[in-house]
Amino acid sequence: MTSRPRTDGKLPLTELADMKARREPIVMVTAYDYPSGRIADAAGIDVVLVGDSAAMTVLGNDSTVPATMEEMLMLTRAAARGAKRPLVVADMPFGSFQVSDEEAVRNGVRFVKEAGADAVKLEGAGATLSRVMALVGAGIPVMGHVGLTPQSATMLGGFRAQGRTAEKARELLQDARALEAAGCFAVVLEAVPAQVAARITASLSVPTIGIGSGRGCDGQVLVFHDLLGLYDGKAPRFVKRYADLAAETRGALERYAAEVRSGAFPSDEHTYSIPEDELAAFEDTFSGSRAESRTET
Ligand code: KIV
Repeated sequence: MTSRPRTDGKLPLTELADMKARREPIVMVTAYDYPSGRIADAAGIDVVLVGDSAAMTVLGNDSTVPATMEEMLMLTRAAARGAKRPLVVADMPFGSFQVSDEEAVRNGVRFVKEAGADAVKLEGAGATLSRVMALVGAGIPVMGHVGLTPQSATMLGGFRAQGRTAEKARELLQDARALEAAGCFAVVLEAVPAQVAARITASLSVPTIGIGSGRGCDGQVLVFHDLLGLYDGKAPRFVKRYADLAAETRGALERYAAEVRSGAFPSDEHTYSIPEDELAAFEDTFSGSRAESRTET
């Protein structure tokens, strides 16, 4: 069996820690709208992340930095309408939590109240730790994110693997532990060497969700558009493509265009009709003086 058995109702947040204890992999995927949320739900996905990767995959920006609160709220609202059983985690965009604990809580509350998110995700450690504590204190579950944190990619020297020296790996371990101590219910490890990620995973009591961080994490996440072949930008090496929907979609649109141009679409099958007598009466409108007098007035 490749997918979890469907159960009614929302997956309890505490189930993720139980899954870690049972060594049952947690499956997370990003989704940004109603159909993707609904498909993720139907596929038995455990956690739907409305990632700020939407800034690139959906909105066409070059990085995640331009994502705004209003954009993320709209995308989260739509995905949450579709994803009934999976936990819905909203990614807090750059600028929505950096300034102060108060602003982080204000924006976190908006994701839960206005958009139907079950939890939020914040990138980084350091100053982020006090934001995590403030959010958790306000009753909002928080997922942490360390390793390659795209919002601060410039500071990290670009989109590259993190924790590749003993010192950097130790720093990552400390950050992940600090996030757990601050109250995170799970931590994303992005682009971390597999051996380091496995060590961090074993030393945390909360689950780790890996992306480009190997099999030793408690769960995995991929970006919807990457795994379905819908994103035409350069995909990182850790992306596995499970479909080529861009090619399939383009093929369908080309067939549609060709059929419209040739007159093959719409056929009778896709067309409504009117009863003969009603049609005849309607045709009268155009015959003789009635049609002419109508045109004159
Ligand atoms: O924005 C996003 O999609 C993410 C995942 C890659 C973890 O943060």
